[in-house]
Amino acid sequence: MVLGFFKKEQERNTAWWREGTVYQVYPSSFKDSNGDGIGDIPGIISKLDYIKSVGTDIVWLSPHYKSPQVDMGYDISDYKAIHEPYGTFDDCIKLIQECHDRGLKIIFDLVVNHTSDQHEWFKQSRSSKSNAKRDWYIWKPAKYDEQGNRIPPNNWESYFGGSAWEWDEETQEYYLHLFAKEQPDINWRNLQAREAIYKDAILFWLDRGIDGFRIDTVQIYSKPEDFPDAPERVPGQKLQNPSIIVETGPQLHEILQEMNRKAFSKYDIMTVGEGSPPSLEKTLEYVSSSRHEIDMLFSFDFGALDHREIAHTLNDIDMVEMKETVYRWQRLVGKTDGWTTFFLENHDSGRSISRFASDATPEARNRSTKFLAVLQATMSGTLYLYQGQEIGIPNLPDEVPIEEYKDVNSINYYNAVKEDTKNDPDALKKAKKYLQKVARDHARSPMQWDASKHSGFTDGEPWMIVNPIYPEVNVAAQEWDADSGLNFWRHILKFRRQHKDVMVYGTLEVLDKENTKVFTFTKASESGRTFLVALNFTDKAVDYDVDQFASKSTLLLSSIGNVHHKSGSLQPLEAVIFEIHHHHH
Ligand code: GLC
Ligand code: CA
Repeated sequence: MVLGFFKKEQERNTAWWREGTVYQVYPSSFKDSNGDGIGDIPGIISKLDYIKSVGTDIVWLSPHYKSPQVDMGYDISDYKAIHEPYGTFDDCIKLIQECHDRGLKIIFDLVVNHTSDQHEWFKQSRSSKSNAKRDWYIWKPAKYDEQGNRIPPNNWESYFGGSAWEWDEETQEYYLHLFAKEQPDINWRNLQAREAIYKDAILFWLDRGIDGFRIDTVQIYSKPEDFPDAPERVPGQKLQNPSIIVETGPQLHEILQEMNRKAFSKYDIMTVGEGSPPSLEKTLEYVSSSRHEIDMLFSFDFGALDHREIAHTLNDIDMVEMKETVYRWQRLVGKTDGWTTFFLENHDSGRSISRFASDATPEARNRSTKFLAVLQATMSGTLYLYQGQEIGIPNLPDEVPIEEYKDVNSINYYNAVKEDTKNDPDALKKAKKYLQKVARDHARSPMQWDASKHSGFTDGEPWMIVNPIYPEVNVAAQEWDADSGLNFWRHILKFRRQHKDVMVYGTLEVLDKENTKVFTFTKASESGRTFLVALNFTDKAVDYDVDQFASKSTLLLSSIGNVHHKSGSLQPLEAVIFEIHHHHH
């Protein structure tokens, strides 16, 4: 009998990633070891003990590959090489080893919807129509309007603004780029291109011992062959968002199954895809373990709750919608053979206390950090914590000028408003205010280690502004403060492990759905242990009688400390966990 080639699901070791909490490291902004102002791999290695001390189990490294950095490394020019300022290939191998030495797992980012335009594959592809790699990317002839002007093949808008098609003078065709024009989309219909991706981007690193991948933009590899126009989402606009067409395209699931068969399934690893299908059925097509595609998805739904208007605190967020959103993704656990995730921050978002709670005062920041820690840590599925979230770093303050924003998406957006409104000061103010809330820059500013110059991130000049709040909000200050956000995270991750039957694997039911101030839900383990979680999403005390839900219960944990909890009420931004005692006759 041949053993160990195609592993059966039962033989896979899944507990480590189901129960583990992931700590996301953004390499350029975590820790600089050599004073050039850019975070690097030796810097990360020097902080692994810290990551371990938070109680997290798995390190997710955002892209550290060779890249011209048009989109902070999500534009890769060589999958098998390291971005030089981050360190050497040996540093990277050492990082894997040093994680494993500490009992930490490590996963890398897998960015294969597109490469950089500086990748050798694309350089060859664009060199001539007859090049062997021409078909590895998506090339189309021009169209012409009634006046005979050259126009792109369809109306798709890039996610970073402007047309998703770039004209190539040299070979007189357009190529597709759903993101920046320096990020050409790979043609996933081409078998050779797929094989090259498996070999260079996936197997190469699995052979070097990493424990899995976070899969970038996992929904959009397969585009319909006829490249139809996107339906009008914004009336009257020439360019339209192509999501509805490119998400879960015709061959996407075949592709993921092939990727799993030819690469993932040969190793005991985890895979998490970035993508948010619109229904449970569609989600299960990715994450149902019987389909052998990927293990779990990140949902954008929670993070989209405050995007429509410039919401200020969670008080402005539709609480009923929030409860539905949480339930929609939580019901995967315990009720299906899929799995889920929960995160409040990543490198593409603003900071959670500024968006979903309050960053108004030191007291509010401390409360909010712990409050959101309870929200997150009581969720079933795999948790993802983003660097700095554990100490409650808020968004960059309003005073930080637009020039300090470095993200290509922020810059494109701001410039588009500038152009469209011919520098209208009111429009620009509004644009800045929007960025103030949701820009990706807030998460990308350097980690705050201590109160020394540049937050202990670098001895040189940081590549991006450090949040001026760092003398107050930093790891060193929170280490010795028993009530700090950091120490609360440590506490609640221990608590989560201790009660994993309920906290990690439990099924969630929302109670009191119409309540617009408090989010109450229960989590029940398979054996019938039940916790009741209540979160007061307002900055006022509210009357709250837990007896309405359970005649007998014990307080297990309060985000403001069990001794400060007052029965019969919830304090501003207080989160509590009770155990419910069922009657036994
Ligand atoms: C994902 C990444 C984001 C990047 C984009 C293009 O959304 O998280 O940072 O800009 O893909 O690769
Ligand atoms: Ca450096």
